[in-house]
Amino acid sequence: MSDVILKVENLSKTFHSTNGQTTQALDKVSFKIRRGEIFSLVGESGSGKSTAGRCLIGLERPSSGSIVFFGKRMQIIFQDAVSALSPRLTIGQSVMEPLDINHIGSRSSRKEKALEFLRLVGLDESSFYRLPSDYSGGQQQRASIARALALEPDLIIADEPVASLDVSIQAQVISLFQNLRQKNGTSFLLIAHDLSLVRRVSDTVGVMKDGVLVESGATEQVYQNPQHPYTQALIQAIPVPDPAFRQHK
Ligand SMILES: Nc1ncnc2c1ncn2[C@@H]1O[C@H](COP(=O)(O)OP(=O)(O)OP(=O)(O)O)[C@@H](O)[C@H]1O
Ligand SMILES: [Mg+2]
Repeated sequence: MSDVILKVENLSKTFHSTNGQTTQALDKVSFKIRRGEIFSLVGESGSGKSTAGRCLIGLERPSSGSIVFFGKRMQIIFQDAVSALSPRLTIGQSVMEPLDINHIGSRSSRKEKALEFLRLVGLDESSFYRLPSDYSGGQQQRASIARALALEPDLIIADEPVASLDVSIQAQVISLFQNLRQKNGTSFLLIAHDLSLVRRVSDTVGVMKDGVLVESGATEQVYQNPQHPYTQALIQAIPVPDPAFRQHK
């Protein structure tokens, strides 16, 4: 647990749009993720969470700062699954693609692996041969999760991976993440709006506001004793599932 897989220091990103407007999406963000750790990023819409994830995996070029990755492979689960799968590839081809590109195992073992991960996300074998357009948004999201996991990366950036899924499937995917962490020491950067889910699954949480990481620490510590006023407001706004429960406390 103690060795660091990813170290981010003073990461900044400014977007310049054609009309001369600039947006500072990230402002000197620093954090570390250890092996086998689930690190969650929370914060309001537009606070820079996806931009952080995209910088880490190299889809955006940081304006300044440093990112050091000590692992071999990093994969991303995109916030928008529909655009993450190629419409012309069967779901099986999409899941196998990262394994093909990286020349992992034989062709038949790659197919086995793809089928195994499709099953683990709750899709049946026939999905292997079908196009994304045959499936609902939630099913496509599961296929894109299978695609990211099949390569068995050391670090997974999961950007709202379960927001579009039914509660039962959400639980299945989250327990799959936890199994991978346990079995392979996989680390996760989980980006999520659902603060109850974040509390349940993450070891560490970072709170973003206007591009700044205003607070980070062990999840229970942050939830029980939030330091920053913004974190305090976020935590107070978490709905309590059963109002009677709150009354009796
Ligand atoms: N390619 C881009 N060009 C210009 N501005 C961008 C670009 N990508 C993101 N931004 C801006 O950067 C800021 C951070 O966006 P980002 O997508 O990282 O937020 P987020 O925290 O992921 O939000 P959400 O919770 O809605 O997904 C926003 O103001 C957004 O409009
Ligand atoms: Mg986002």
